[in-house]
Amino acid sequence: MTFYTIALNFEDGVTRFIDCKQGEKVLDAAFRNKINLPMDCSDGVCGTCKCRAESGAYDLGNDFIEDALTDDEAAEGLVLTCQMVPSSDCVLAVPTTSIACKTGHQKFSARVTAVAPHHDAAIVLELEVDAAAPAFLPGQYVNIDVPGSSQNRSYSFSSAPGDRRLGFLIKKIPDGVMSGWLAGAKPGDRLDLTGPLGSFYLRDVKRPLLFLAGGTGLAPFLSMLEVLARAGSEQMIHLIYGVTRDLDLVLVDALEAYAARLPSFTFTTVVAEEASDHPRKGWVTQHMPAEVLHGGDVDVYLCGPPPMVDAVRRHFDESGATPASFHYEKFTPNAPAREAA
Ligand code: FES
Repeated sequence: MTFYTIALNFEDGVTRFIDCKQGEKVLDAAFRNKINLPMDCSDGVCGTCKCRAESGAYDLGNDFIEDALTDDEAAEGLVLTCQMVPSSDCVLAVPTTSIACKTGHQKFSARVTAVAPHHDAAIVLELEVDAAAPAFLPGQYVNIDVPGSSQNRSYSFSSAPGDRRLGFLIKKIPDGVMSGWLAGAKPGDRLDLTGPLGSFYLRDVKRPLLFLAGGTGLAPFLSMLEVLARAGSEQMIHLIYGVTRDLDLVLVDALEAYAARLPSFTFTTVVAEEASDHPRKGWVTQHMPAEVLHGGDVDVYLCGPPPMVDAVRRHFDESGATPASFHYEKFTPNAPAREAA
């Protein structure tokens, strides 16, 4: 029996993964997995079960009326889960909260296997889970409880889904609660995690990609690049990695390794600091040549602090170079929440 994995990405950022048998409708598979997706008629009449298919291959089904799902909606990727039959792994955006569907966050624990500081800029944290590798989409994050406190912090996976070893790239913050804990952390220490979370994840790759990373916003792109390197990609992928100081440029060797494994991948680095000797100084928007925008036929992914996200959006608005899609995640180091679109 063939099973497909369906990621249900809820409005509150929670993602749950269910298995769907070949030929099974998503609504039935979700119910079997104890998740009550929105539904009313389950006959393709009311449209209550409408979701957006973000990626994957599927049959829409034949047994629904135009009032429930129009041709235009179907062309935009909307589906009726009471009719949709997947023919590959899929990601569905569900327009309601996980709580409304009688599900919620997943918790798991992991032990520290390595803590590697990079000057005063960042810390590479490696964990290993005891049980099965947690499912997540490349680009997503988890909340990690800070031991000995009531606080948690959000960090994107820098490792690929399916690995029991989890990687994170964490900004080092003076007096930060997680930075403080990591300063004394040692292999074997345990951490509790909640997730995966977030709507910032790699969609189906249908056109060239432009990745824009600000500081430790590099982490989700490392996860995406690992997935792309394993699968191979015909599409051009370019990453612009912007930081404040020279010392903030970490894991450049990892990017060089991806460029060697994935011939369609290139990257450039940019340093903002005036005193830097770096060949490209300033902001990522000042080092975004027209060719990486492919005349607008490009999917742009950006992960960085709020001013960087706003500057890039302004740049696209002012230059008229509207990309085919623009996915971003704003993060504020030392704050528990993230914002994505
Ligand atoms: Fe009514 Fe799917 S539940 S159309």
